[in-house]
Amino acid sequence: MTLTFPMQDCVRQSHSKAEVLDISNLIKNRKSAVRFADRRLKPKEIETLIEAACHAPSSRNEQPWRFVIARSGTADFDAFIGIMAPSNQAWAQTADVLVLACYVDVFSSDGLANRTAIYDLGAAVAFLALQAEFMDLSAHQIGGFDIKKAKPLLPENPHLQPCVIVAIGEAETIDRLNEAEIQKASRNRIRNSVSDVCLSLRAFN
Ligand SMILES: Cc1cc2nc3c(=O)[nH]c(=O)nc-3n(C[C@H](O)[C@H](O)[C@H](O)COP(=O)(O)O)c2cc1C
Repeated sequence: MTLTFPMQDCVRQSHSKAEVLDISNLIKNRKSAVRFADRRLKPKEIETLIEAACHAPSSRNEQPWRFVIARSGTADFDAFIGIMAPSNQAWAQTADVLVLACYVDVFSSDGLANRTAIYDLGAAVAFLALQAEFMDLSAHQIGGFDIKKAKPLLPENPHLQPCVIVAIGEAETIDRLNEAEIQKASRNRIRNSVSDVCLSLRAFN
């Protein structure tokens, strides 16, 4: 099914000046849960998260992202947990949903290599993560898994490349986290400054 948007959705909504100089709360508050609470997501919630990912921009609007979704308590979920690094298994198994996020590495029109497919997938997962924050959920991406063991878990397609597993659920409340989990959560919040990441600061003067 193709997602279509009415024309009025294509017109940018205006924001006040004060608002546009603030970082959105969705961006500020998003974080990767260190452990998930015992809450089952509704199928519609999962669909909405994937639909948010589908709104991401992509080179030539190719939309090269593909997702394999596994619910907790299923063989697929156990298979995804089974290929993770042990340090990830410990917390990821508390998630309700695991999404194996993949990209198609060629353009559908001409079969030529799509150099930015993995970048486009990253944008799609970022959209999913922000939508999760909007829905009071958390999406924690995992690169620490055996990529060779992920391939057999996908439909047969030489151009379908696994990239990350996204663990999704409601974040466990801080009062239920142990000391090590609280420390991990605070360590992860540290960010480089604007001047660290910009190779020149001339644009800001
Ligand atoms: C591509 C990618 C791979 C990641 N892999 C792991 C992982 O294997 N294990 C883990 O605990 N966190 C993983 N993370 C989560 C990062 O550690 C986390 O995003 C970072 O520390 C910032 O924390 P925050 O997301 O709460 O802001 C990964 C994140 C990304 C984007």
